[in-house]
Amino acid sequence: MERKVSIIGAGPSGFALAADLQNRGIDVLVYSHPDHFRYANEVMVKGQLTVRGKIESSMPVCITSDMAEIIEFSLMIILTIPSTGHETVLQQLRGFSLQQHTIIAIPGNLFSLIADIEIGCVLETNLSPYSCRMERDEVLVLGKKSLIFIAALQSPPSQAIYDAVQEIMPVKLCWCSSVIEVCLLNVNGVFHPLMILMNAARIESTNGDFFLYRDGLTSSVAKAMIAVDQVRMQIGNAFGHSMRSALRVSNECYGHTFTSLVDLARNSGPHNGLKAPPDLQNRNISEDVPDLLVCWHSLAEKLGIDASPIKAIIVLAQMATSVDYFQSGRSLRKLHLEDISRSELIERFMAQPDGAIVSRL
Ligand SMILES: NC(=O)c1ccc[n+]([C@@H]2O[C@H](COP(=O)([O-])OP(=O)(O)OC[C@H]3O[C@@H](n4cnc5c(N)ncnc54)[C@H](OP(=O)(O)O)[C@@H]3O)[C@@H](O)[C@H]2O)c1
Repeated sequence: MERKVSIIGAGPSGFALAADLQNRGIDVLVYSHPDHFRYANEVMVKGQLTVRGKIESSMPVCITSDMAEIIEFSLMIILTIPSTGHETVLQQLRGFSLQQHTIIAIPGNLFSLIADIEIGCVLETNLSPYSCRMERDEVLVLGKKSLIFIAALQSPPSQAIYDAVQEIMPVKLCWCSSVIEVCLLNVNGVFHPLMILMNAARIESTNGDFFLYRDGLTSSVAKAMIAVDQVRMQIGNAFGHSMRSALRVSNECYGHTFTSLVDLARNSGPHNGLKAPPDLQNRNISEDVPDLLVCWHSLAEKLGIDASPIKAIIVLAQMATSVDYFQSGRSLRKLHLEDISRSELIERFMAQPDGAIVSRL
């Protein structure tokens, strides 16, 4: 197998992945969009990438802002940009022949349904393998997950792709039968927006000088999260997926055994040391509200599920930021699913009999 991977996205996740893969002898080329070059610039000026924490490494990394080089470098491309940047990347990928390529979107947030170009295989995960932050040229990896969930739009993928992805990816993969299931397993949609909105005044009055999970996820915040989580699980259940709570998904991904959301917030190493952002202009809102909550709300509406807890958060986020997330977010219209009936929607993304997927775990 080709021991080379192209990574599109030069932020904490992309550079943590680059270091992890290089440590395992896999060559990488990292793409940074010219308008989003701040981290790439720091690494290039320093001449090497330093990663600390759960991954230790200090080595040069190749960076480009030429998409043609990325496509030429490897048939395996991993996207590590926020889903709000997917459209920008798709615009740049148009015009290239990608029939032989595999693209893995980390996380996907239904990237495969908005990717309107011909790609050999599109896969998407629920989360990033890492909990990480970046300052200047240095990445701090606070946590590395034990497993993440993944699915292909055309499920299951061929054995050759399955083997190649399995060999490249730095964590155990739990293969799901539909991209909708994987999108619902991105439990950041349960955690992030409520934690930011219910702590908005504190964020703004302290410039984020408190621990977002440890201090900001208290019992009433947890209760609100559980209300959202119940809607998320009802949506998955309507497709026949056996849904687990966000707490259980997080425990599975990190190999933890926390008994409540507050227990997780206080005691989880990858979470309890995270500082709050300095303001509300961050991807806990700008990515997770439009590309997870609007999507879940839109699915729930089509399925006839009461999604008022999710709608309440979207409306509050809109009022607090003056951004129309219902308009900009991944609604069924944006996902090209608007015109199909409820039963067609369920049929297209329903859980498959376990055989094909489970036999590969
Ligand atoms: N880091 C974590 O701990 C973590 C954990 C779970 C999930 N994730 C998810 O993993 C993904 C990547 O995380 P990250 O922390 O590396 O994200 P990030 O720093 O916000 O973004 C990654 C890179 O993408 C660039 N970018 C942003 N918008 C873009 C656009 N429209 N076009 C092209 N490039 C764009 C960023 O540039 P700028 O710096 O200029 O914005 C940055 O260089 C996100 O979806 C995130 O939610 C991350």
